[in-house]
Amino acid sequence: MCGIVGAISQRPVAAILLEGLRRLEYRGYDSAGLAVLDANGSLQRLRVLGKVSGLAEALDATPVNGLLGIAHTRWATHGEPSTENAHPHISHDRCAVVHNGIIENHERLRAEQLAAGHRFLSQTDTEVVVHAIHDALAAGQTLTEAVRQTRLHLQGAYALGVIDGQHPDCLVAARQGSPLVIGVGFQEYFIASDVFALLPVTNRFIFLEDGDLAELRVDGLAIWDANGDPVERPVRTSTVAADSAERGPYRHFMQKEIFEQPRAIADTLEGRLASRTVLPEAFGVEAEAILSGTRGVTIVACGTSYHAGLVAKYWIEAVAGLPCQVEVASEYRYRKHVIPDGHLFVTISQSGETADTLAALRLARQGGYTSTLAICNVPESSLVRESDLVLLTHAGPEIGVASTKAFTTQLTALLLLTVNLARHHGLDAEQEAAAVQLLRSLPSQMEQVLSLDARIAELAEQFVDCQHTLFLGRGEQYPIAMEGALKLKEISYIHAEAYPAGELKHGPLALIDEDMPVVAVAPNNALLEKLKSNLEEVRARGGKLFVFADDQVPMQEEAGITVVRLPQTDDLIDPIVFSIPMQLLAYHVAVLKGTDVDQPRNLAKSVTVE
Ligand code: G6P
Repeated sequence: MCGIVGAISQRPVAAILLEGLRRLEYRGYDSAGLAVLDANGSLQRLRVLGKVSGLAEALDATPVNGLLGIAHTRWATHGEPSTENAHPHISHDRCAVVHNGIIENHERLRAEQLAAGHRFLSQTDTEVVVHAIHDALAAGQTLTEAVRQTRLHLQGAYALGVIDGQHPDCLVAARQGSPLVIGVGFQEYFIASDVFALLPVTNRFIFLEDGDLAELRVDGLAIWDANGDPVERPVRTSTVAADSAERGPYRHFMQKEIFEQPRAIADTLEGRLASRTVLPEAFGVEAEAILSGTRGVTIVACGTSYHAGLVAKYWIEAVAGLPCQVEVASEYRYRKHVIPDGHLFVTISQSGETADTLAALRLARQGGYTSTLAICNVPESSLVRESDLVLLTHAGPEIGVASTKAFTTQLTALLLLTVNLARHHGLDAEQEAAAVQLLRSLPSQMEQVLSLDARIAELAEQFVDCQHTLFLGRGEQYPIAMEGALKLKEISYIHAEAYPAGELKHGPLALIDEDMPVVAVAPNNALLEKLKSNLEEVRARGGKLFVFADDQVPMQEEAGITVVRLPQTDDLIDPIVFSIPMQLLAYHVAVLKGTDVDQPRNLAKSVTVE
């Protein structure tokens, strides 16, 4: 999704902007650009279709010099990916804007501005913003006033960075619905879509709230809230290390993140387990009162996080005996709901900035849910700030667009939640102690499964040329099959679908032939015999089976069946353990296909627009 960087300093900013964009690449984008004000107050702009490396080359060829600038990576929403549509957008060669979000009333504003004589050079929704700012400037307003006035006419979501040739001493930023942070330096300030962009220059950040307007100068900073009143926002020190977004010895971030999972899970459990119990304080001080009174759970999320929610439904209903409903946020936010009595509203999100999830949370709060819990990987995110209870996953920065360690740490957090809820609903001390022991064993079990890497890499060769694949699972492994299919389609572009294996005969069996590999997730659990019967149905029709089974599963390799053995685990943690071979399979298929593993086409890491 679009990324913003901006800087006002006493040193040249082009290199800072470029490095910031490079560090935002993981969000997903199709074009990049920057604009810098030179010493004469004239704007120099460079834009390219494609990668930030292309912008760096353009910058080498045509250096720009200045102490104030803004930069952007664009993920197309309105208007195709092209140089003309890349940001920054400029009006009358004096002011420049970068924008993340969607201006929903852009068509009406564009018609008005065309009638008033403005010439449009792009198809974007953003260009109306810069023309509106220009008009306010031309009417004699300061840059800050001009942005404030422009906002009155904008509907939709945006984070904005704005500069103007006649205001060479200030950078103006605004936030409404899309994330924006201010980096605080020594006599310099920065803006960015997230903290990673700025870690090489500062570790001190101010997180703007929705409605905030900020004016940044080398000698100070002013912020106004949504009512226009001056506000002080706290400066927070980030503990994320600048090199945490480096790939190290791994070929891709996704590979690094898959292998980081034992550590990420250990970190997520750290401080949350006593020897035989899940510590109630893990959810914050007010949590016990809320969790003990919870009579059901509603979970809302998107993408991979939604799949984590689906697994949790099995856990919460089976272990805690509480009803649990799960829904994708983009659906939830646009329908009428019956709010079940005593339900805890849980959102799950790696980034904490996903527009649909955030909107669902706000709707739930307005609609009458009294308690909300965010399971999230980013402590300063909007979702965390707007929820009553927070359970942070400590996965560390996840850069690959396809989520891996965020998913398994979300599952770990959801298991902590399940045990905590279950304690209030009949789970006895022995059962809790057993669950705690299993949670503790997770990192070492994950290590063992990671040693299957070479075997799965070999297997991947059999998927490279196929057009379609089917993933099967039953019970809590069905969402793991869904996640396996999602991983494969995201990064290898092979069409992959997941089905609960019992549904095979109600449709998908018609697809089975020798060109359709079928992947089955098959731990040794109560549904194994049922699953085996379903797999027989596939074999009988000439389907090629790839079964991920633990070493207790009585199933032999033979023609048409490949069996990959995982160490035996317990039903409770199987979904977490069996996620790993799904991730490795998708990863190796994508590597063999030569796709862009970390930044797959058309996808974004943090989806901050609808
Ligand atoms: C995007 C990402 C997915 C992620 C989803 C939800 O689609 O590419 O990996 O699962 O957004 O993101 P969230 O940050 O809310 O978990």
